Amino acid sequence: MPLVGNLHLLFLLFLFLNHGLAAGSTFNIVSLGAKADGMTDASPAFQEAWANACGSSEPATIYVPNGAFYVHSGNFTGPCKNNAITVLINGTLMASSNIQVLAQSQAWIAFRHINGLSIYGGVIDGQGMGLWNCKHSGQSCPDGATSLEIFDSQNVNVNGLSSVNSQMFNIVVYGCQNVQIQGVNVSSASDSPNTDGIHVQQSLNVNISNSNIGTGDDCISIGPGTTNLWMENINCGPGHGIR
Ligand SMILES: *[C@@H]1O[C@H](CO)[C@@H](O)[C@H](O)[C@H]1NC(C)=O
Ligand SMILES: *[C@@H]1O[C@H](CO)[C@@H](O)[C@H](O)[C@H]1NC(C)=O
Ligand SMILES: *[C@@H]1O[C@H](CO)[C@@H](O)[C@H](O)[C@H]1NC(C)=O
Ligand SMILES: *[C@@H]1O[C@H](CO)[C@@H](O)[C@H](O)[C@H]1NC(C)=O
Repeated sequence: MPLVGNLHLLFLLFLFLNHGLAAGSTFNIVSLGAKADGMTDASPAFQEAWANACGSSEPATIYVPNGAFYVHSGNFTGPCKNNAITVLINGTLMASSNIQVLAQSQAWIAFRHINGLSIYGGVIDGQGMGLWNCKHSGQSCPDGATSLEIFDSQNVNVNGLSSVNSQMFNIVVYGCQNVQIQGVNVSSASDSPNTDGIHVQQSLNVNISNSNIGTGDDCISIGPGTTNLWMENINCGPGHGIR
């Protein structure tokens, strides 16, 4: 029932609209210069919002309004001064369709070394088709980037997020403890190479529930060092299953 995720998002939007700054500080990326034109790089605004949220001594929210935002890359690194950062995405974040842009990067959007992070709603679009075509054609191509990486972090919630057309893995949870992923939709073409839905590795207490995953590789892949991984109500397909 991904509906749960959506209701949660609506509830948060309701809280946000009604109480604004009541739950700590909010940093709207548009107020910081991002443009919802799908072309202008919103990374600097996003990075500034992150610096503010992470540096805040009280709970903080980064808000991405409705619309399409081109994001070259996001490197959101802690440790932070508070343990309640929310990233509330109402719109779509789009990667570059140029396969060289993220050629040397492991991840397009990465959250690292954070205790207390919630990501709600929105779409992240890795625009991976160009890279998939390159790989299909047998030319030499970059490996491609993971769309969303959560690394060395604790107490993380991902709720109501959609990941589409990742270059490589969609979502990676690596070196984390206490991670809840629910109401997430993953969609990459059934013949897209290496586009695992959710990859979990070196992590403890991860709960993935109520999610739809359709992809060209594993729906959920479990790497070494994973303990106490709970999966519930996962709709997998197309894909290579859960393994
Ligand atoms: C969120 O996006 C929807 C359209 O998808 C729009 O109707 C709504 O006003 C947006 N809410 C906020 C708080 O921006
Ligand atoms: C990300 O930011 C951190 C801290 O600002 C920095 O140490 C690290 O090198 C950056 N990583 C990438 C891949 O840019
Ligand atoms: C996920 O897909 C289901 C079925 O298509 C849809 O009802 C739900 O709203 C989607 N959730 C998100 C977060 O996009
Ligand atoms: C996993 O999360 C779902 C949805 O929040 C919840 O219903 C379920 O009880 C959780 N399972 C565990 C083992 O925590």
